[in-house]
Amino acid sequence: MVTINNFSIVQLSDAHVYEEESHEVYGVVPIANLKAAVHSINSIRPLPSLCIYTGDAVSIKSEKAYLLFKEQIQLLKIPVHYAMGNHDNRMLLRRQLLNESEMSDGPYYYAIHQAGWRIVILDTSVPGEVWGQINKQQLIWLEEILRDDMPTFIFMHHHPVPVGVPWIDNLMLKKPDQLIKILQQAGCVHSVFFGHIHFECHIEVQNLRFMSVPSISFQFSEMPHTKKIASNPPGFRLIQVNTNIVRSIVHRLTYEELNTYF
Ligand SMILES: [Fe+2]
Ligand SMILES: [Fe+2]
Repeated sequence: MVTINNFSIVQLSDAHVYEEESHEVYGVVPIANLKAAVHSINSIRPLPSLCIYTGDAVSIKSEKAYLLFKEQIQLLKIPVHYAMGNHDNRMLLRRQLLNESEMSDGPYYYAIHQAGWRIVILDTSVPGEVWGQINKQQLIWLEEILRDDMPTFIFMHHHPVPVGVPWIDNLMLKKPDQLIKILQQAGCVHSVFFGHIHFECHIEVQNLRFMSVPSISFQFSEMPHTKKIASNPPGFRLIQVNTNIVRSIVHRLTYEELNTYF
């Protein structure tokens, strides 16, 4: 019998770091926001058990940008697990963030376990494309590992359900029905968490919960007929599991937190 204990996960996403520390984009300095987020997460008590970073670590796919990102993310006092985003480069991410010497550019997907829960991290990235897709081999692997009854969270970069903003929905996961069917038939999936859309949302589809997190960099508007860029503060998601109760909230960085590093 599996013992289920309390634990918490931080979901952090879409820092979009450039090559220069001072680089500003849409009125935001990505590295300053990341510094503020790392400091804020390190201040949570009790400390979360782990962080899942759901993609787009950098905006420029270069060693220099990854090194700048790494310099900050490694200051987190908890283990970090990565999902690939459309702005990521599989080989650079593996070398810089996973310290792997082998330069594989194959999909990076895996499962970890935490206190009786399974946490699946999918690779929805397609090199050279902004939209996402999950290849057949990964779907077969997913279906296979979900055969047992262990409660499961899924983390990924692209949104597998439309979020109601046409230009963003053009860049979602292609052929999401295959994934949704596997998740629904498995019966053990509690929630699916994703990044990519740069705003917070919560969607329910036939007993499955889908949640996104704000970017830790610039924000997109969740309203379909307004400007693309929104001025909402950046944030991260905290998922707290207490036996069979799951509480999930988004913490937006406060003015004080942001201005410490700006
Ligand atoms: Fe992004
Ligand atoms: Fe993205």
